[in-house]
Amino acid sequence: MVILDDAPKIPAEVQYKLDNEVERLYSKLKNVGWNKKACEIIAPYTLSINTIKKEKGIKILAHSYQTADIVFGIADIVGDSLGLAKKAKDVEEDTILFCGVDFMAETVKILNPEKTVFVPQKERDCTLADSITAEDVLNLKKEYPGAPVVCYINTTAEVKAESDICCTSANAKKIIENLKEDTIIFIPDYNMGVNLANLTGKNIITWKGFCRTHHAFTKRRLDSINNDSTATTFAHLECRPEIIKEVDLIGGTGDMHRYAKSSSNGKKILYLTEQGFIDRMKGEYPDVQFADSNMICVSMKMNDLYSTLKAISNPTSKNTIELDETVRQKAFKSVNRMLKY
Ligand code: 13P
Repeated sequence: MVILDDAPKIPAEVQYKLDNEVERLYSKLKNVGWNKKACEIIAPYTLSINTIKKEKGIKILAHSYQTADIVFGIADIVGDSLGLAKKAKDVEEDTILFCGVDFMAETVKILNPEKTVFVPQKERDCTLADSITAEDVLNLKKEYPGAPVVCYINTTAEVKAESDICCTSANAKKIIENLKEDTIIFIPDYNMGVNLANLTGKNIITWKGFCRTHHAFTKRRLDSINNDSTATTFAHLECRPEIIKEVDLIGGTGDMHRYAKSSSNGKKILYLTEQGFIDRMKGEYPDVQFADSNMICVSMKMNDLYSTLKAISNPTSKNTIELDETVRQKAFKSVNRMLKY
């Protein structure tokens, strides 16, 4: 039988730190719908992770699709895929813990080979990255000689290594417009390829990959969630072309973030993208009204505070991003080339 009076007492200084942590978390997470009790449950995790990260000199980078406890609880830098690739280059710490999908962590490693880059969970299950191999790229090049290959960031290092230039949703249009060729191979996102052809007027040879999260925004789904005609609709470039035609604005999550930041109080926005990004916006801009998309990227959601604490306390080879040096050097050229856009 447990006699509560005999239960171990939490030392006063620890309790004080925990109470402060709960308040810090609640000040952001309440805007995302979290209650105090939930913040009390996660506070020991966020406190431990933040202490270990300082002791070990680790910077935590997180994509905006991560859950709100990661975004507001432990991340040092939160951003879109282009912003994170650029900011990773300025990180002074020798070690980066990347909360996102592993091909984004690979991009960080491609640009920063001297740093240790690790992830809470290695997760290969991305319908875009999994749709194409380096051999497929070589075959496309043979089929369309002279056409440059633009690869989306959602690809493996091996695919990036066989491509001429990498891109993200934030700079894809600019990159394609700046290429002198009129026929361009764009891999692996079919929707984005068609959208870019419509936006640039170029002849885009595309591939059969889809982002299962953005592809799931059908016209029917848009009609069911778009129930306020005064809301601005803003779709991610990975959405279907028929959705792109219906909305007010298009872009990547970096563009979406800038739009929220510049919006006035009371503005209503419906973002057609992953719910994690919408939760981030709710936490950062509580005076703007964001509709929920309820679309979840399961690969992004593989990370949680428990796996992050485990990885940061005792990282193993299962957490560490390692790349073949020849592949890395070839991939570096295509990734580095996109950073000026
Ligand atoms: P961003 O480039 O907008 O971060 O998009 C990431 C994404 O949607 C990955 O599928």
